[in-house]
Amino acid sequence: MTGSVGKTSTKEMLRGVLTAQGETHASIASFNNHWGVPLTLARCPATVAYAVFEIGMNHAGEIATLVRMVRPHLAVITTVEPVHLEFFSGIQAIADAKAEIFQGVEPGGAVVLNRDNAQFARLQKHAKAAGIPRIISFGEHAKADARLRDVALHPACSAVHATILKQDVTYKLAIPGRHMAMNSLAVLALAQLAGCDLAVAALTLSRVAPAAGRGQRRPLDVSGGEATLIDESYNANPASMAAALAVLGRSSVEGKGRRIAVLGDMLELGPDGGKLHRGLIDAVNDNDVDLVFCCGPLMRHLWDALSSGKRGGYANDAASLESQVVGAIRAGDVIMVKGSLGSKMKTIVATLEKRFPGSAALDDAAV
Ligand SMILES: Nc1ncnc2c1ncn2[C@@H]1O[C@H](COP(=O)(O)OP(=O)(O)O)[C@@H](O)[C@H]1O
Ligand SMILES: [Mg+2]
Repeated sequence: MTGSVGKTSTKEMLRGVLTAQGETHASIASFNNHWGVPLTLARCPATVAYAVFEIGMNHAGEIATLVRMVRPHLAVITTVEPVHLEFFSGIQAIADAKAEIFQGVEPGGAVVLNRDNAQFARLQKHAKAAGIPRIISFGEHAKADARLRDVALHPACSAVHATILKQDVTYKLAIPGRHMAMNSLAVLALAQLAGCDLAVAALTLSRVAPAAGRGQRRPLDVSGGEATLIDESYNANPASMAAALAVLGRSSVEGKGRRIAVLGDMLELGPDGGKLHRGLIDAVNDNDVDLVFCCGPLMRHLWDALSSGKRGGYANDAASLESQVVGAIRAGDVIMVKGSLGSKMKTIVATLEKRFPGSAALDDAAV
Protein backbone atom coordinates (compact mmCIF):
# COMPACT_ATOMS: atom_id res chain seq x y z
CA MET A 1 0.00 0.00 0.00
CA THR A 2 1.35 3.37 -1.00
CA GLY A 3 0.00 6.81 -2.00
CA SER A 4 0.44 10.51 -1.26
CA VAL A 5 -2.21 10.53 1.46
CA GLY A 6 -4.46 7.95 3.04
CA LYS A 7 -1.95 5.13 3.47
CA THR A 8 -2.30 4.71 7.23
CA SER A 9 -6.05 5.39 7.26
CA THR A 10 -6.59 2.80 4.53
CA LYS A 11 -4.17 0.36 6.13
CA GLU A 12 -5.94 0.58 9.50
CA MET A 13 -9.35 0.09 7.88
CA LEU A 14 -8.00 -2.92 5.99
CA ARG A 15 -6.38 -4.28 9.15
CA GLY A 16 -9.76 -4.11 10.89
CA VAL A 17 -11.55 -5.79 8.02
CA LEU A 18 -9.00 -8.59 7.57
CA THR A 19 -8.61 -9.24 11.30
CA ALA A 20 -12.30 -10.14 11.40
CA GLN A 21 -11.68 -12.80 8.73
CA GLY A 22 -8.32 -14.35 9.57
CA GLU A 23 -5.02 -13.86 11.38
CA THR A 24 -3.65 -10.52 10.20
CA HIS A 25 -0.34 -8.72 10.56
CA ALA A 26 0.00 -5.02 9.67
CA SER A 27 2.52 -2.21 9.92
CA ILE A 28 2.47 -0.29 13.18
CA ALA A 29 1.57 3.41 12.85
CA SER A 30 3.37 4.76 9.75
CA PHE A 31 6.25 2.26 9.79
CA ASN A 32 6.70 2.71 6.07
CA ASN A 33 10.36 3.49 5.32
CA HIS A 34 13.66 1.61 5.06
CA TRP A 35 13.44 0.80 8.77
CA GLY A 36 9.71 0.31 9.18
CA VAL A 37 9.09 -1.99 6.24
CA PRO A 38 11.86 -4.55 7.01
CA LEU A 39 10.88 -4.42 10.69
CA THR A 40 7.25 -5.14 9.82
CA LEU A 41 8.41 -8.04 7.65
CA ALA A 42 10.66 -9.44 10.35
CA ARG A 43 7.82 -9.32 12.86
CA CYS A 44 5.33 -11.06 10.60
CA PRO A 45 4.39 -14.46 12.04
CA ALA A 46 4.58 -17.32 9.52
CA THR A 47 1.04 -18.32 10.42
CA VAL A 48 -0.82 -15.22 9.22
CA ALA A 49 -3.49 -15.36 6.57
CA TYR A 50 -3.04 -11.69 5.65
CA ALA A 51 -0.29 -9.09 5.97
CA VAL A 52 -0.69 -5.38 5.24
CA PHE A 53 2.34 -3.20 4.57
CA GLU A 54 2.45 0.57 4.32
CA ILE A 55 5.21 1.81 1.99
CA GLY A 56 6.12 5.48 1.85
CA MET A 57 8.72 7.56 0.09
CA ASN A 58 10.31 10.96 -0.15
CA HIS A 59 12.48 10.22 -3.15
CA ALA A 60 12.36 8.22 -6.38
CA GLY A 61 13.72 4.68 -6.03
CA GLU A 62 12.68 4.14 -2.40
CA ILE A 63 9.48 2.22 -3.08
CA ALA A 64 11.16 -0.07 -5.63
CA THR A 65 13.62 -1.31 -3.00
CA LEU A 66 10.99 -1.80 -0.30
CA VAL A 67 8.33 -3.50 -2.39
CA ARG A 68 10.83 -6.09 -3.62
CA MET A 69 11.25 -7.15 0.00
CA VAL A 70 7.50 -7.36 0.62
CA ARG A 71 6.54 -9.06 -2.68
CA PRO A 72 2.81 -8.40 -2.28
CA HIS A 73 0.05 -10.21 -4.14
CA LEU A 74 -2.04 -7.04 -4.10
CA ALA A 75 -0.86 -3.44 -4.28
CA VAL A 76 -2.84 -0.24 -3.91
CA ILE A 77 -2.00 3.39 -4.64
CA THR A 78 -4.50 5.43 -2.61
CA THR A 79 -3.98 8.68 -4.53
CA VAL A 80 -1.31 10.90 -6.06
CA GLU A 81 -1.23 14.46 -4.76
CA PRO A 82 1.26 17.34 -4.69
CA VAL A 83 3.09 16.42 -1.47
CA HIS A 84 6.87 16.18 -1.08
CA LEU A 85 7.04 18.51 -4.08
CA GLU A 86 10.32 19.67 -2.66
CA PHE A 87 11.95 16.49 -3.94
CA PHE A 88 10.15 16.10 -7.28
CA SER A 89 9.90 18.01 -10.54
CA GLY A 90 6.10 17.72 -10.52
CA ILE A 91 3.06 15.56 -9.98
CA GLN A 92 3.91 13.20 -12.86
CA ALA A 93 7.28 12.45 -11.35
CA ILE A 94 5.50 11.63 -8.07
CA ALA A 95 3.15 9.28 -9.95
CA ASP A 96 6.12 7.56 -11.58
CA ALA A 97 7.73 7.02 -8.18
CA LYS A 98 4.51 5.57 -6.73
CA ALA A 99 4.29 3.25 -9.74
CA GLU A 100 7.49 1.60 -8.54
CA ILE A 101 5.22 -0.47 -6.29
CA PHE A 102 4.20 -2.52 -9.34
CA GLN A 103 7.75 -3.81 -9.68
CA GLY A 104 7.39 -5.96 -6.58
CA VAL A 105 3.95 -7.45 -7.20
CA GLU A 106 4.02 -11.23 -7.41
CA PRO A 107 3.23 -12.85 -10.78
CA GLY A 108 -0.54 -13.17 -11.17
CA GLY A 109 -1.15 -10.40 -8.64
CA ALA A 110 -3.45 -7.40 -8.90
CA VAL A 111 -3.24 -3.65 -8.34
CA VAL A 112 -5.93 -1.30 -7.09
CA LEU A 113 -5.86 2.27 -8.43
CA ASN A 114 -7.83 5.46 -7.82
CA ARG A 115 -9.97 6.00 -10.94
CA ASP A 116 -10.83 9.59 -9.98
CA ASN A 117 -7.22 10.69 -9.66
CA ALA A 118 -5.71 12.73 -12.48
CA GLN A 119 -2.74 10.35 -12.61
CA PHE A 120 -4.88 7.22 -13.15
CA ALA A 121 -4.03 6.74 -16.83
CA ARG A 122 -0.34 7.18 -16.13
CA LEU A 123 -0.40 4.63 -13.32
CA GLN A 124 -2.45 2.22 -15.41
CA LYS A 125 0.15 2.42 -18.17
CA HIS A 126 2.92 1.68 -15.68
CA ALA A 127 0.97 -1.30 -14.30
CA LYS A 128 0.47 -2.73 -17.79
CA ALA A 129 4.14 -2.23 -18.59
CA ALA A 130 5.04 -4.10 -15.41
CA GLY A 131 2.95 -7.04 -16.63
CA ILE A 132 0.28 -6.85 -13.91
CA PRO A 133 -2.60 -9.00 -15.19
CA ARG A 134 -5.37 -7.45 -13.13
CA ILE A 135 -5.92 -3.71 -12.71
CA ILE A 136 -8.85 -2.82 -10.47
CA SER A 137 -10.02 0.77 -10.02
CA PHE A 138 -12.01 2.50 -7.30
CA GLY A 139 -13.79 5.85 -7.19
CA GLU A 140 -16.87 7.69 -8.34
CA HIS A 141 -16.00 7.27 -12.00
CA ALA A 142 -18.64 5.34 -13.97
CA LYS A 143 -15.99 2.83 -15.03
CA ALA A 144 -14.59 2.22 -11.55
CA ASP A 145 -14.66 -1.45 -10.52
CA ALA A 146 -15.25 -0.46 -6.90
CA ARG A 147 -17.67 2.38 -7.47
CA LEU A 148 -19.25 4.84 -5.10
CA ARG A 149 -22.96 4.99 -5.85
CA ASP A 150 -24.08 7.27 -3.10
CA VAL A 151 -22.79 8.61 0.18
CA ALA A 152 -24.55 10.40 3.03
CA LEU A 153 -21.98 12.35 5.03
CA HIS A 154 -22.80 12.78 8.72
CA PRO A 155 -20.71 14.55 11.37
CA ALA A 156 -19.28 11.35 12.84
CA CYS A 157 -19.91 8.67 10.20
CA SER A 158 -20.99 8.08 6.63
CA ALA A 159 -23.57 5.84 5.00
CA VAL A 160 -22.13 4.44 1.79
CA HIS A 161 -23.71 2.64 -1.12
CA ALA A 162 -21.17 1.09 -3.47
CA THR A 163 -20.70 -1.58 -6.09
CA ILE A 164 -17.59 -3.62 -5.38
CA LEU A 165 -16.54 -5.79 -8.30
CA LYS A 166 -20.17 -6.19 -9.41
CA GLN A 167 -21.55 -6.76 -5.91
CA ASP A 168 -23.80 -4.12 -4.35
CA VAL A 169 -23.12 -3.19 -0.73
CA THR A 170 -24.52 -0.59 1.65
CA TYR A 171 -22.60 0.08 4.83
CA LYS A 172 -21.97 2.46 7.66
CA LEU A 173 -18.45 3.81 7.89
CA ALA A 174 -17.46 4.90 11.39
CA ILE A 175 -14.91 7.43 10.09
CA PRO A 176 -16.49 10.60 8.66
CA GLY A 177 -15.54 12.42 5.48
CA ARG A 178 -15.87 11.84 1.78
CA HIS A 179 -12.13 11.06 1.56
CA MET A 180 -12.56 8.18 3.99
CA ALA A 181 -15.52 6.86 2.00
CA MET A 182 -13.20 6.80 -1.02
CA ASN A 183 -10.53 4.96 1.00
CA SER A 184 -13.14 2.42 2.07
CA LEU A 185 -13.81 1.53 -1.57
CA ALA A 186 -10.17 0.53 -1.97
CA VAL A 187 -10.37 -1.46 1.27
CA LEU A 188 -13.40 -3.43 0.11
CA ALA A 189 -11.88 -4.03 -3.33
CA LEU A 190 -8.73 -5.39 -1.64
CA ALA A 191 -10.78 -7.52 0.74
CA GLN A 192 -12.73 -8.97 -2.15
CA LEU A 193 -9.53 -9.68 -4.11
CA ALA A 194 -8.04 -11.33 -1.03
CA GLY A 195 -10.98 -13.74 -0.94
CA CYS A 196 -12.81 -12.23 2.02
CA ASP A 197 -16.55 -12.26 2.56
CA LEU A 198 -17.59 -8.84 1.25
CA ALA A 199 -20.72 -8.49 3.38
CA VAL A 200 -18.78 -9.21 6.57
CA ALA A 201 -16.04 -6.82 5.46
CA ALA A 202 -18.56 -4.04 4.91
CA LEU A 203 -20.12 -4.71 8.30
CA THR A 204 -16.73 -4.46 10.00
CA LEU A 205 -16.27 -0.93 8.66
CA SER A 206 -18.97 0.31 11.01
CA ARG A 207 -16.62 -0.47 13.90
CA VAL A 208 -13.24 0.77 12.64
CA ALA A 209 -12.30 4.02 14.36
CA PRO A 210 -10.02 6.72 12.90
CA ALA A 211 -6.27 6.16 13.34
CA ALA A 212 -4.47 8.32 15.94
CA GLY A 213 -4.34 12.00 14.99
CA ARG A 214 -6.44 11.41 11.89
CA GLY A 215 -9.83 12.66 12.85
CA GLN A 216 -10.62 11.26 16.30
CA ARG A 217 -13.37 13.22 17.99
CA ARG A 218 -13.36 13.87 21.72
CA PRO A 219 -15.68 15.81 23.97
CA LEU A 220 -14.15 18.68 25.93
CA ASP A 221 -15.82 19.81 29.14
CA VAL A 222 -15.84 23.59 28.95
CA SER A 223 -17.63 26.08 31.12
CA GLY A 224 -21.37 25.89 30.49
CA GLY A 225 -21.30 22.67 28.49
CA GLU A 226 -19.33 20.64 26.01
CA ALA A 227 -17.23 21.33 22.94
CA THR A 228 -15.91 18.79 20.42
CA LEU A 229 -12.26 18.37 19.50
CA ILE A 230 -11.31 16.81 16.17
CA ASP A 231 -7.70 15.67 16.41
CA GLU A 232 -6.12 15.90 12.95
CA SER A 233 -2.71 16.71 14.36
CA TYR A 234 -0.85 13.77 12.86
CA ASN A 235 -0.06 15.34 9.52
CA ALA A 236 -1.18 17.74 6.80
CA ASN A 237 -0.86 18.52 3.13
CA PRO A 238 -3.22 20.45 0.83
CA ALA A 239 -5.37 17.39 0.06
CA SER A 240 -5.84 16.31 3.66
CA MET A 241 -6.36 19.91 4.86
CA ALA A 242 -9.19 20.34 2.39
CA ALA A 243 -10.64 16.98 3.48
CA ALA A 244 -10.43 17.87 7.18
CA LEU A 245 -11.99 21.32 6.63
CA ALA A 246 -14.83 19.59 4.77
CA VAL A 247 -15.42 17.30 7.77
CA LEU A 248 -15.38 20.35 10.04
CA GLY A 249 -17.92 21.99 7.73
CA ARG A 250 -20.25 19.02 8.17
CA SER A 251 -19.97 19.04 11.95
CA SER A 252 -23.01 20.30 13.75
CA VAL A 253 -22.35 23.06 16.25
CA GLU A 254 -24.66 23.58 19.19
CA GLY A 255 -26.20 26.77 20.52
CA LYS A 256 -23.76 29.59 20.02
CA GLY A 257 -21.00 27.16 19.03
CA ARG A 258 -18.65 27.84 16.15
CA ARG A 259 -16.59 25.82 13.70
CA ILE A 260 -12.99 26.55 14.63
CA ALA A 261 -9.90 25.51 12.68
CA VAL A 262 -6.48 25.60 14.38
CA LEU A 263 -3.93 25.22 11.63
CA GLY A 264 -0.16 24.76 11.54
CA ASP A 265 2.22 24.77 8.59
CA MET A 266 2.09 22.10 5.90
CA LEU A 267 5.75 21.26 5.34
CA GLU A 268 7.83 19.98 2.41
CA LEU A 269 5.75 21.74 -0.24
CA GLY A 270 8.67 23.44 -1.96
CA PRO A 271 8.48 26.87 -3.62
CA ASP A 272 4.67 26.77 -3.96
CA GLY A 273 4.27 26.50 -0.18
CA GLY A 274 2.99 30.04 0.37
CA LYS A 275 0.51 29.81 -2.46
CA LEU A 276 -0.79 26.42 -1.28
CA HIS A 277 -1.36 27.81 2.22
CA ARG A 278 -3.12 30.89 0.94
CA GLY A 279 -5.22 28.60 -1.27
CA LEU A 280 -6.84 27.05 1.82
CA ILE A 281 -9.02 30.17 2.00
CA ASP A 282 -11.51 28.55 -0.39
CA ALA A 283 -11.95 25.48 1.83
CA VAL A 284 -12.30 27.76 4.89
CA ASN A 285 -15.04 29.80 3.25
CA ASP A 286 -16.82 26.95 1.45
CA ASN A 287 -17.13 24.97 4.68
CA ASP A 288 -18.49 27.79 6.84
CA VAL A 289 -15.53 27.78 9.20
CA ASP A 290 -16.25 30.60 11.65
CA LEU A 291 -12.87 31.14 13.24
CA VAL A 292 -9.32 30.27 12.20
CA PHE A 293 -6.19 30.19 14.37
CA CYS A 294 -2.92 29.97 12.46
CA CYS A 295 0.67 29.32 13.45
CA GLY A 296 3.91 29.12 11.52
CA PRO A 297 5.46 31.27 8.79
CA LEU A 298 3.62 29.45 5.98
CA MET A 299 0.19 29.68 7.61
CA ARG A 300 0.79 33.41 7.73
CA HIS A 301 -0.21 33.36 4.04
CA LEU A 302 -3.64 31.99 4.96
CA TRP A 303 -3.90 34.35 7.92
CA ASP A 304 -3.36 37.34 5.65
CA ALA A 305 -6.07 36.10 3.30
CA LEU A 306 -8.70 35.63 6.04
CA SER A 307 -11.48 38.15 6.44
CA SER A 308 -11.11 39.95 9.76
CA GLY A 309 -14.22 38.30 11.22
CA LYS A 310 -12.66 34.85 10.81
CA ARG A 311 -9.35 35.75 12.41
CA GLY A 312 -9.01 33.92 15.71
CA GLY A 313 -5.33 34.41 16.42
CA TYR A 314 -1.85 34.04 14.97
CA ALA A 315 1.49 32.98 16.49
CA ASN A 316 4.89 31.93 15.20
CA ASP A 317 4.59 28.37 16.47
CA ALA A 318 2.13 25.94 18.05
CA ALA A 319 3.32 26.47 21.64
CA SER A 320 2.82 30.24 21.40
CA LEU A 321 -0.66 29.83 19.90
CA GLU A 322 -1.98 27.55 22.67
CA SER A 323 -3.17 30.15 25.14
CA GLN A 324 -5.15 32.02 22.49
CA VAL A 325 -6.96 28.84 21.48
CA VAL A 326 -7.64 27.83 25.08
CA GLY A 327 -9.04 31.29 25.80
CA ALA A 328 -11.42 31.23 22.84
CA ILE A 329 -13.20 27.91 23.30
CA ARG A 330 -16.77 27.85 24.53
CA ALA A 331 -19.66 25.42 24.81
CA GLY A 332 -21.01 24.13 21.50
CA ASP A 333 -17.81 24.74 19.52
CA VAL A 334 -16.23 22.17 17.23
CA ILE A 335 -12.45 22.60 17.06
CA MET A 336 -10.32 20.91 14.41
CA VAL A 337 -6.54 20.96 14.96
CA LYS A 338 -4.26 20.12 12.02
CA GLY A 339 -0.75 20.64 10.69
CA SER A 340 2.30 18.70 9.53
CA LEU A 341 3.91 16.52 12.18
CA GLY A 342 6.84 18.95 12.33
CA SER A 343 4.47 21.82 13.15
CA LYS A 344 3.80 20.14 16.51
CA MET A 345 0.05 20.74 16.59
CA LYS A 346 -0.19 17.71 18.85
CA THR A 347 0.92 19.95 21.72
CA ILE A 348 -2.23 22.04 21.27
CA VAL A 349 -4.36 18.89 21.26
CA ALA A 350 -2.67 17.67 24.43
CA THR A 351 -3.19 21.01 26.16
CA LEU A 352 -6.87 21.15 25.23
CA GLU A 353 -7.38 17.64 26.54
CA LYS A 354 -5.63 18.46 29.78
CA ARG A 355 -7.32 21.81 30.25
CA PHE A 356 -10.83 20.57 29.38
CA PRO A 357 -10.87 16.86 30.28
CA GLY A 358 -13.96 15.36 28.65
CA SER A 359 -15.54 11.99 29.19
CA ALA A 360 -14.63 9.02 26.99
CA ALA A 361 -13.43 9.43 23.42
CA LEU A 362 -16.37 9.71 21.06
CA ASP A 363 -15.04 6.98 18.82
CA ASP A 364 -13.46 4.35 21.01
CA ALA A 365 -14.84 1.60 18.82
CA ALA A 366 -11.63 0.44 17.17
CA VAL A 367 -11.52 -3.22 16.26
N1 LIG B 1 -8.01 9.88 0.37
C1 LIG B 1 -7.68 10.94 1.10
N2 LIG B 1 -7.72 12.20 0.58
C2 LIG B 1 -7.37 13.28 1.31
N3 LIG B 1 -6.99 13.22 2.60
C3 LIG B 1 -6.92 12.00 3.17
C4 LIG B 1 -7.26 10.81 2.47
N4 LIG B 1 -7.11 9.77 3.31
C5 LIG B 1 -6.69 10.26 4.49
N5 LIG B 1 -6.57 11.60 4.42
C6 LIG B 1 -6.11 12.53 5.46
O1 LIG B 1 -4.71 12.73 5.26
C7 LIG B 1 -4.01 12.79 6.50
C8 LIG B 1 -2.97 11.71 6.56
O2 LIG B 1 -3.65 10.48 6.49
P1 LIG B 1 -2.89 9.09 6.60
O3 LIG B 1 -3.90 8.04 6.42
O4 LIG B 1 -2.04 9.10 7.80
O5 LIG B 1 -1.97 9.15 5.29
P2 LIG B 1 -0.45 8.72 5.08
O6 LIG B 1 -0.23 7.47 5.86
O7 LIG B 1 -0.43 8.51 3.59
O8 LIG B 1 0.38 9.85 5.51
C9 LIG B 1 -5.08 12.68 7.56
O9 LIG B 1 -5.43 13.98 7.91
C10 LIG B 1 -6.23 11.99 6.87
O10 LIG B 1 -7.47 12.31 7.43
MG1 LIG C 1 1.24 6.93 7.16
